[in-house]
Amino acid sequence: MKISIVGSGYVGLVSGACFAQLGNKVICVDNNKKKVAALKKGHIPIYEPGLSELIKSNVLKKRLHFTDSIREGVENSEIIFIAVGTPPSENGEADLTGIENVAANIAKNMKSYRLIVEKSTVPVETGEWVKHTIKSYIKKDVKFDVASNPEFLREGQAIDDFMHPDRIVVGLESQTARQKMELLYKPLNAPIVFTDIKSAELIKHASNSFLATKISFINAVSCICDKVGADVTEVARGMGLDKRIGPGFLSAGIGYGGSCFPKDLEAFVKISEKLGYNFKLLKAVKEINENQKDEFVQKIKNSLWIIKDKNIGVLGISFKPDTDDIRSAPAIDIIKSLEAEGAKVKVYDPQAMDKTKGIFKTVNYCKDPYAVCKGAECLLILTEWDEFKELDFLKIKKLMRRPIIIDGRNIYDSRRLEKIGFTYISVGRGGLLRK
Ligand code: UDX
Repeated sequence: MKISIVGSGYVGLVSGACFAQLGNKVICVDNNKKKVAALKKGHIPIYEPGLSELIKSNVLKKRLHFTDSIREGVENSEIIFIAVGTPPSENGEADLTGIENVAANIAKNMKSYRLIVEKSTVPVETGEWVKHTIKSYIKKDVKFDVASNPEFLREGQAIDDFMHPDRIVVGLESQTARQKMELLYKPLNAPIVFTDIKSAELIKHASNSFLATKISFINAVSCICDKVGADVTEVARGMGLDKRIGPGFLSAGIGYGGSCFPKDLEAFVKISEKLGYNFKLLKAVKEINENQKDEFVQKIKNSLWIIKDKNIGVLGISFKPDTDDIRSAPAIDIIKSLEAEGAKVKVYDPQAMDKTKGIFKTVNYCKDPYAVCKGAECLLILTEWDEFKELDFLKIKKLMRRPIIIDGRNIYDSRRLEKIGFTYISVGRGGLLRK
């Protein structure tokens, strides 16, 4: 099929490359001329495993190309996806300016029937506004449909998530739109949930908010475990074997971060408020997530007493492993708290240090985990990179001034570390020093 995708960010590029790989002719449109010029030369602006290769091979096969002209995209495709950013505005609501602009520009360039699909994460009823906007800019006799097809891509696994989805969600209003979307997604052989547009929009916000709720739930349980000396990983294991609960997203830690969960949760709370519903549950989910970082800092204080002038080592900054993304990473807030209290912080992260340098000027950036440990009075684990799971702890014990490890991701076996002589404190595994 001939499709175009407006917005060459994370979602647009991954979707564009994958649709091309499935045999479609894809035009990726972006109004940033510099970005388009770079993409044409094969420079991919984001880090996602496999994406660069996928883009290059589909460009070579002439199934994928880039343009800054929305007209070119609209003229040469039957389906047009909108995948522009919907960043949070100051009050937490999603800023839909980009969506409105694109909808208007699509309408101005449409000369015959097109299916316009929202792929960006948007609040419920955005489809209505997209329809309304297109109607007000379009020539009277041109027909069109609007659909909603939210993405569920995880950073670091986006291509696999696209190619092997648990389900595809499509909200639409006409048989023509349904036939086109069915044909487009046929090669993936995945279950498709066809529904109305508003329900599809809600599925996205509800899914991400539910996953965040699961994480905050287990984090709240971890606080109780700390108080009584129980083990949250055992509690999660016992809960997760119940098929109705499931084992996923029950790892306690220092809280969720990233570009999606915090933003989508906030936007869902805001749109609910606008519609007259106070979504107290999600407010509590957010509060627990914030509190989890404070609990962690309290553990450091309980171990070191005074933080001022103490040498503290940090392993991991990115919001999760296998990405350089530090947006809303809990590590950033924790390092900020330590710096505010006057600690001397040394950090190492396999991918995220370049991005962090813009935020922290006084932090000491180290070349490897051992350099972080040298002279440290306490070592913090803030991201569960595989590299940190295989460290030489005998060597680390000699390097540190005091053998204290505070693990925000529960990656080590406490007995092993305690045997070597470490004081090991983790999240919800009974290691909290009592106040
Ligand atoms: C998420 C959704 O999974 C994806 O479907 C959506 O489209 C975009 O947002 P992503 O932000 O890439 O994807 O991250 P994900 O792998 O889901 O992890 C989110 C955060 O939750 C991370 O900070 C992670 O550390 C944290 N997390 C996850 C936990 O703290 N505990 C868990 O058990 C699982």
